Amino acid sequence: MAIKLRSGAPADAEVCGDICYKAFKTISETHGFAPDFPAREVAIGLLAWMLAHPGFYSVIAEIDGRIVGSNFLDERNRIAGVGPITVDPAVQNRAIGRHLMDAVHERAAERSFAGVRLIQAGFHTRSLSLYAKLGYDVREHLACMQGKALGISIEGHVVRPAAEADVEGCNQVCQEVHGHNRDGELRDAIAQGTASVVEHDGRITGYATIIGFFGHAVGQTNKDLKALLGAATEFAGPGFLLPTRNGELFRWCLNKGLRIAQPMTLMSKGLYNEPAGAFLPSILY
Ligand SMILES: CC(C)(COP(=O)(O)OP(=O)(O)OC[C@H]1O[C@@H](n2cnc3c(N)ncnc32)[C@H](O)[C@@H]1OP(=O)(O)O)[C@@H](O)C(=O)NCCC(=O)NCCS
Repeated sequence: MAIKLRSGAPADAEVCGDICYKAFKTISETHGFAPDFPAREVAIGLLAWMLAHPGFYSVIAEIDGRIVGSNFLDERNRIAGVGPITVDPAVQNRAIGRHLMDAVHERAAERSFAGVRLIQAGFHTRSLSLYAKLGYDVREHLACMQGKALGISIEGHVVRPAAEADVEGCNQVCQEVHGHNRDGELRDAIAQGTASVVEHDGRITGYATIIGFFGHAVGQTNKDLKALLGAATEFAGPGFLLPTRNGELFRWCLNKGLRIAQPMTLMSKGLYNEPAGAFLPSILY
């Protein structure tokens, strides 16, 4: 079985999106969880966006000229994000995933990224084993949280939509919390109109690109994240990702009636700074 790797193009979106949808649906349903993508078109739409975006590197695996899987590297920030990686369920567990991971690691090394990160479905033994063997360490256990919008405000913490002029203030908070900023993602979210900031004592103390599966958030304190969570009109996609080690915020969400949709794991390889503040990772890390 000769596996050929090549870079992706927008024309690959349909076939790769179909495999991505099937791969996640199969693994989720096998374990009794709801699929990450509600419909094939949603997976195709996401991969079409990533394949056309200059900030993402893509790699496609083929066998006998047929696409059997794909993987991505989010290069928008100084720490790179890996995934979504998916292999056609008919040919899984035959080293295609390992080849697709090696390809993005080679790319990350060429581009001198100090570290790479990913989010893993916590119930999936195969991906956990593969990533651990490839050198990833478990950093956070996450709960994907879903439920009705909270409609809560936190005294002294004002939430408003983010604008271009907020980028510097947001990047500063991210830098304080993570030791690096996520400028590229933040700018995309502001352009898409999904980002929000929280202000306390007249300065930006946190932001969210969106409260949901594909968005990250940072705050100097849990109060900042509570204000952002409380102001969200919905939790986009399957839910937002909450590090369960943050027991205070985790219990606050549970006590507000939010439910755990599924367990997930944040893993990293290379540089990793222990966060110095409150944060919610996105599925892209
Ligand atoms: C995760 C996925 C991309 C991996 O690709 P794959 O081609 O099936 O995986 P590979 O065969 O390359 O690697 C699997 C490795 O895990 C090992 N493995 C599998 N189950 C294991 C277990 N229970 N315990 C220990 N090792 C295990 C295999 O032996 C193999 O290791 P090796 O490379 O040292 O031989 C693929 O299974 C997939 O698309 N899954 C559904 C979507 C998904 O979960 N994507 C990842 C999101 S986090």
